Amino acid sequence: MISRDTIDKVFDTARIDEVVGDFVSLKQRGVNKIGLCPFHNEKTPSFTVSVAKGIYKCFGCGQGGNSVNFVMEHEKYSYPEAIRYLAKKYNIEIEEKEKTEEEIEQQSERESQYIVLGFAQKYFTDILLNNAEGKSIGFSYFKERGYNEDVVEKFQLGYGLESWDAFTKEALKKGYKLEYLEKTGMTIIKEEKHYDRFRGRVLFPIHNFSGKVIGFGGRILKKDAKAAKYVNSPESEVYEKRRVLYGIYFGKKAIATQDNCYLVEGYTDVISLHQAGIENVVSSSGTSLTEDQIRLIQRLTKNITILYDGDAAGLKASFRGIDLILRQGLNVKIVLFPDGEDPDSYSKKLGKAKLQEYIKEGAKDFISFKTGLLLEEAQGDPVKKVALIREIVESIAVIPDAIARSTYVHECGKIMEISEQVLITELNKIRRKNLSQQRRESGEAYAGVEIPISDYKSGHPLGSESESKVTEASAEPQERDVIRFLLNYGESKFLLPITDAADPSDTSPENAEVKNMEVLVSDFIVKEVLVDDLQFDHELYGKIFKEFEYSVENSLDWGQQHFVNHENKEISKMAIDLVFAPYTLSKNWDEKHHIKVQTEELGLRLSVERTVYSFKMAKVKKMISENREKIRTSDDDSIREELLNEYHGLLEAKKYISRYLGRVLG
Ligand code: CTP
Ligand code: MN
Repeated sequence: MISRDTIDKVFDTARIDEVVGDFVSLKQRGVNKIGLCPFHNEKTPSFTVSVAKGIYKCFGCGQGGNSVNFVMEHEKYSYPEAIRYLAKKYNIEIEEKEKTEEEIEQQSERESQYIVLGFAQKYFTDILLNNAEGKSIGFSYFKERGYNEDVVEKFQLGYGLESWDAFTKEALKKGYKLEYLEKTGMTIIKEEKHYDRFRGRVLFPIHNFSGKVIGFGGRILKKDAKAAKYVNSPESEVYEKRRVLYGIYFGKKAIATQDNCYLVEGYTDVISLHQAGIENVVSSSGTSLTEDQIRLIQRLTKNITILYDGDAAGLKASFRGIDLILRQGLNVKIVLFPDGEDPDSYSKKLGKAKLQEYIKEGAKDFISFKTGLLLEEAQGDPVKKVALIREIVESIAVIPDAIARSTYVHECGKIMEISEQVLITELNKIRRKNLSQQRRESGEAYAGVEIPISDYKSGHPLGSESESKVTEASAEPQERDVIRFLLNYGESKFLLPITDAADPSDTSPENAEVKNMEVLVSDFIVKEVLVDDLQFDHELYGKIFKEFEYSVENSLDWGQQHFVNHENKEISKMAIDLVFAPYTLSKNWDEKHHIKVQTEELGLRLSVERTVYSFKMAKVKKMISENREKIRTSDDDSIREELLNEYHGLLEAKKYISRYLGRVLG
């Protein structure tokens, strides 16, 4: 493990413009440097680097981070890999931290398995390329399939000899322990005898995200009806099938830069596509995608294109699995291959250029595709058509993004020649059902309340009513501004006039004699929020605030750098976004209220107070509307009375805040 000291040194030494500059050409623009974003295609630069803050941010695609994040993202490195890379760049000696005994044991257990598997891969590749049987049987098989030497080498393909234990014997001779040979599934032990798992098969090593071999798939060569076509490594500590995608290591860079991931059925499809110049491809090895696998893809892109080579019946069976992808918020497209062809065979038939064109032209959006396919079957059968609507809408209903949902509803309406309203009504029924089911499953009390999702009666576009209601009552922009202020100016100080008046908005002449006190912005904001016991609804803002609270309580002075370089990636990403974010909420206020300040810094005190009190105002408004709703639905008189009391209290608070805001707004 790399020592904390080394990591700190790397963070202190690495200069963001130098690190980025190795990959992107940067130009000075004001206090920042800008260039063309390496994470998405653009013609005008929106990739911004702040040397002072040590971070980068792309306003086109939203990517942002510090030097370490940049290297991780650009090179697809893990955290330690990125630290090592930067240490090397800056000639920093890497100090390894002593590990606890438990860590060593755990690590060496996994490490030993990786080592055995790495050896196995080299052994089998060597057999394929240099051994007589390997060459004449294994290598010529690959050649016959049209693989060139480059891909054979790249994918580290191999061959297991037609022998009971040639591999195991060699491994034992080289000093590898039987224990790990068995644990990785390479050797099968039966009645004290050792057998190789992979005998007389060509081998596809399976790599994890960072390129270590974690298992093998072994394909039979003969057309033998009795023997299995593939023998695969069993699950092991290092090979958890549901978390692995074949090809992810070789494809991750292309997947990220193309912002799309092709999904194919098998090993051979992945390799053929690489050979045809298409590298953004993975395979789930003949099974449907798991959630973990989708998450793996999601680290690189939100777009999946399924290259499907089966018949319509098989495709329909996989619709459920595709819904799983939609549910996780990814966009799914589908490319259908002609009867009897798969990406492997078709790439050979068409050649590189034509295949690429076929895939590009043939990619259809999944929902429209599904609609078209089912519609064909329901042609002229109204009963079937009703069932079809339901099926389509079920897919749309799982999509988390409201805008995407309404786009699809529109699209499907057109394809099916049916009114959007009918689809929307059906959609809302299903979403209501799904939601209440989710609540029941998550153990949340289900009060039997209708979940307000707009439908045709209201005339609103899909979901917009409920969603706009939420934003209206939500204090999200104000919460955001508070956190943004803490991050940008938390370490600054301003002078706060201290009056003895109970009401600070009272600026009458009796209080003319005021003393000033120097306060830290973070102290001021944290205390103001705590004194009213206000909560953040937005989870991430809440987390960041909690850390500020902790920092203030313990005088730790955590500022911008602490959050920008936070180990929690969500927090650091949010911090970077907010550090670069313009002051949105009160943008027009300056003009509207004739405040004579040009920037936030100039009017720091006013801006801080304005931000905090706008936050309080939003919270009070929200509480008032919640309280009203409770009053409306409550039929218990004593509870109603209590609620009414609370209501008046809230109105008072609102008046007070409003007066205060009026003052700070000038
Ligand atoms: N598979 C498996 N076991 C089998 C059959 C298939 O594990 N008995 C998995 C393999 O990962 C395989 C994928 O399902 O790559 C797709 O199967 P298939 O299309 O039959 O194999 P291909 O790898 O495409 O091989 P080929 O092109 O030589 O038929
Ligand atoms: Mn196949």
